[in-house]
Amino acid sequence: MFPYTRLRRLRYNSTLRAMVQETQLLPNNLIMPMFVHYGKGVKNPIPSMPGIFQYSVDLLIHECSRLYNLGVHSVLLFGIPEHKDETGECACLENGIVQQAIIALKKHIPDLFVIADVCNCEYTTHGHCGTIVDGDVHNDITCKTLAQQSVSLARTGVDMIAPSDMMDGRIGIIRKELDAHGFESLPIMAYSAKYASAFYALFRDAAQSTPMFGDRKTYQMNPANKKEALREVELDIHEGADIVMVKPALSYLDIIHTISSTYNVPVAAYNVSGEYAMVKAAAQQGWIDEENMILEILTSIKRAGANMIISYHTQDIISTLTK
Ligand code: PBG
Repeated sequence: MFPYTRLRRLRYNSTLRAMVQETQLLPNNLIMPMFVHYGKGVKNPIPSMPGIFQYSVDLLIHECSRLYNLGVHSVLLFGIPEHKDETGECACLENGIVQQAIIALKKHIPDLFVIADVCNCEYTTHGHCGTIVDGDVHNDITCKTLAQQSVSLARTGVDMIAPSDMMDGRIGIIRKELDAHGFESLPIMAYSAKYASAFYALFRDAAQSTPMFGDRKTYQMNPANKKEALREVELDIHEGADIVMVKPALSYLDIIHTISSTYNVPVAAYNVSGEYAMVKAAAQQGWIDEENMILEILTSIKRAGANMIISYHTQDIISTLTK
């Protein structure tokens, strides 16, 4: 009790403050998302996401080498193909855009850990995450395409896959298909609690994946629900997910916390495009201290219980963390 107890005693000295710091954000906690565009010599800026570009494979290699040397050892790939189709089959091609990118990255930067997003929305003409039957995404047909896409990605030597579609049962189906093709060692990071969020709008510009009709509310979760997130996670763990993800991150710290304290699996959090853009927009106005705000945001996500964070800020903050 005061006056004998004074918590400020541990705050007066910066070395002591560092000694008692409970959460440490480490370079290895961070994963950088990258957009791979068809063509050559392409570096398209995303206007609403300053600092983020779509790269063709040749320039992606340069950029990833640069990032790797700064200390970014893990990337998550999204593809923008030249031609889209009705069912996302172009995501399963041997020479698909992400397949090409993975092969090139593994050749030039073998130690870079490459994760591939598994979903149809960047590959379908209508922008939905699967095959449309009677005006909505058909669950079981979509699961089959996703399993096909996963095997195709596995063949390129990808290090991990990350299904982001939110179909029921897809983790089990993908796991089975991977194992049947000899890829039993390939880990799955499942977007388990993925909410139908307004924070994804800018990603959809970057990945050119805005739905042409309707929304994603019949497959992505209602932001108001928490118990349902636990059911999603539990099912994914039983189906074989190695890592479970919560997405978005900032408005869902309670979900991250409950999941990480309830289940004995590593938890990933996705600090999404809208969260990134809010910081960038305020920084451009000169209203905030960008570096300190990013550190505070990412540390809070880790403190909530995330073991790893997918963040567009990775490239801006990595040098501070490796100092
Ligand atoms: C695709 C996908 C989305 C994001 C990651 N994978 C968009 C969506 O579901 O509409 C969002 C990432 C971000 O906003 O940064 N299924």
